[in-house]
Amino acid sequence: MRRRIVAGNWKMNKTPSEARELIETLKPLVGDEKDVDVVFCPPFVDIALAVELVKGTNIKIGAQNMYYEEKGAYTGEVAPEMLKDAGCEYVILGHSERRGYFGETNEQVNKKVLKAIEHGLKPIICVGEKLEQREQGITEDLVRMQVKIAMKDVKKEDAVNCVIAYEPIWAIGTGRTATNEQAEEVCGAIRKVLAEIFDQETADQIRVQYGGSVNAKNAADLFAMPDIDGGLVGGASLKADFADIVKA
Ligand code: 13P
Repeated sequence: MRRRIVAGNWKMNKTPSEARELIETLKPLVGDEKDVDVVFCPPFVDIALAVELVKGTNIKIGAQNMYYEEKGAYTGEVAPEMLKDAGCEYVILGHSERRGYFGETNEQVNKKVLKAIEHGLKPIICVGEKLEQREQGITEDLVRMQVKIAMKDVKKEDAVNCVIAYEPIWAIGTGRTATNEQAEEVCGAIRKVLAEIFDQETADQIRVQYGGSVNAKNAADLFAMPDIDGGLVGGASLKADFADIVKA
């Protein structure tokens, strides 16, 4: 049985003082959660504070990105070791906003995945199609390719610590959620490609999340689908509603 995982991607929201307020609000609501992995992914400048504030709870902290080099002259980038040393357990990689606004490629995502693993960080690897790609009927082809390239050279024993987040781009921040069936269809296809890359036993251990306008109302039905093991939540992770999503 795969352990559920609900992660909040705060994106570019919350100053350190606002982060403190949000964490203090959520801590009593989800801090004792035993059946689900609960992860907060705040902006870099909030990470140290967030790690401090969740000490003694079951909440884990993740970053929203990282670079794939160890250190050096890469102005503005953050290294895997910095995240690890700061207390991160997870790191979101290849989010569609990184791919779309900052030109991240599948190959770069793969380099980041390998580096994260090398440093003991658990990658949450985002994949998903644009609306026109869905309309063209190439969703599965595209997502299969994204997963295959992201997981290139990843070993079986490390793959089980990776999380794949299926986030259809047309459902992100739009209030337009994929139907349970649409989400399940692609998450199932992701598990199938994972079985092709590794084997069925490994694929059955890798957690696949759905993301895209998840809220307190739709979460329970989405998470009840057989291949959906939780959610990657944007907007709704910035308020107390996030606790209802975790309970779902
Ligand atoms: P929303 O939940 O705001 O649609 O964002 C989803 C997302 O991109 C999480 O990474």
